[in-house]
Formats: sequence, C-alpha cells, structure tokens
Amino acid sequence: MVIDGVERQTFAEELAVEAGNLALSYLERGDIEVRSKGVLDWVTEADLATERLIRRRIGESFPDDNILGEEGGGGSPHETGPNTWVIDPIDGTTCFVSGLPSWCVSIACIDDEGHPYLGVIRDPVGAETFSALEGNGLTINGRGVSVPIRGITEGLVGVGHPRNAPSKPTLTFLQNLFDVGGLFYSSGSAALGLAYLAAGRLVGFFESDLRAWDALAGEVLIRESGGWSTRFMRDGSLTTSKPVLAANRGSASAMWGMAADLMEGCSGPDQDITL
Ligand code: IPD
Ligand code: CA
Ligand code: CA
Repeated sequence: MVIDGVERQTFAEELAVEAGNLALSYLERGDIEVRSKGVLDWVTEADLATERLIRRRIGESFPDDNILGEEGGGGSPHETGPNTWVIDPIDGTTCFVSGLPSWCVSIACIDDEGHPYLGVIRDPVGAETFSALEGNGLTINGRGVSVPIRGITEGLVGVGHPRNAPSKPTLTFLQNLFDVGGLFYSSGSAALGLAYLAAGRLVGFFESDLRAWDALAGEVLIRESGGWSTRFMRDGSLTTSKPVLAANRGSASAMWGMAADLMEGCSGPDQDITL
C-alpha cells in the first residue's frame, strides 16, 4: 500500500491542535486528577483523555494503521498496518502539573520498514505547530522555516535528564559542554527541545535515555530543517529506550565530539549522508 504522507501530515497537524486544546482545557478547568507512576513521574487525567482522543481519531481515519502511545501501549487494535503512529499525548507532564508552559503533543509516523517520515509537535501554550513530512522541509504554523548554521557557542544546547536514570552520562555531557564554553537549556520536554532545535532556537540536544514517543517526531523535524540527528530506529526497535543526540548543522561535529563515547551503536555526523 502506498502511504499518502501529505494526507497524514494535514490530519496530524489538525489532530495535534485538537489534542493540545483538550489538554489545555484540563489546565483551565483546574483541579486535575494526578496519579504517580514513580518518583517525579505522573500521569494525569489529561494525559489519558488526550491519548484516547488521538487514538480514536486515528482509528476513525486510518483504521488499518498501528498505534504506539505512551499511556496506552503499542499495536492495539490494528496489528498489521504498514504505518505506525507513535504518540505522546503530553510530553513534559512534570511541567504540565507544575504550571509551567513547556509541554507538547508529539505525533510521528514510521513506515513498515521502521523509517520515520512524519513528525508533528504542537505547543498548545505557545500556539505553535512544528511539522515536517520527509522531503518537504520544516514548517511552523504552516510557514516554511530556514534555519541559520550556528556553532556550538553561538546558541544554547538542550539537555534533558531522564528520571531515575544514571547521572553519569548527563554529567559527562554537561562537563564536556562547559569545557568548550557552551551553555545548556532544559525545557522539561524532550520533544519540545527537539522542536526548538529544528526551529533554530537551540544548536544541539542531548538526552541519555528516551523513548520512541519522545524522540521520533523531533528527529523528522530536525532532519527536514537541515540539522543532524542520531536515528532512533538504528537498532530496529521501536520499544527500547536509548540516547538521542542531535544538532544544528554547524554544531554537529562539536556535539559528536562531546558525546560519541555515550552513543554506542550510533554513526556520527561525518558518516551520515544527510549532513
Ligand atoms: C519526559 C520528558 C522529559 C524527559 C523524560 C521524558 P513525559 O516525558 O520528555 O523532558 O527528560 O525523559 O520521559 O513523561 O513528560 O512524557
Ligand atoms: Ca514523553
Ligand atoms: Ca507523556
């Protein structure tokens, strides 16, 4: 089956706005039901309702597609489709429950060979939709974006630290960044950090352990904006977590120099044909 990427992109952009508005409505209403999944790890009724909405809409429009989501798991109810939607209804739930604005809806598509070809990230508070279909470039709210080439000390590097993860990789990366005179920015939402990199607001991004729903949409955005990113599907697995490194074209070599030892199994930007 040939996948109509443009149709899916338009659908995903509209869905991300609708989903973001639903999550926002919970904030505006206040008194959100929050359940703890672990230390600093919460799921709210907004996460669950937003994922339910996204799954329902995908099921209505693309009944043969697979869906993998953070709150609802993978595969169900469509196990055999050539297209898989990978969704995080709210990335940055810690910020969401803390009353901070940096959270987003993240929607990606991968084809039957595990290749990510569509990424949409919606920032409901900032009212921005970052969107990219492979081969068509990055848009923000429908407008094409041209990202200037910037070196490692010409902007900020996004760094996230996964909860309950070993501190060493993050500390090593930060030490290396400080050693070259760089500075970091941490949004509390990996997907939004990746979108900001794609948009040229950051020059790099590192987090030592991310899931597919955190990383895949941003990876497509970054590649389509001319940047470089490690490939999440490098080990062929959608379900394993792994480190993510990405950069503006002008910072890619420096980022790789600081993080190569932390990125087992990855090819650096010099071996990557997209740079
Ligand atoms: C988390 C956020 C955070 C990152 C964590 C993720 P969640 O996702 O992206 O920035 O540091 O590794 O798990 O739980 O808010 O969807
Ligand atoms: Ca997430
Ligand atoms: Ca989430």
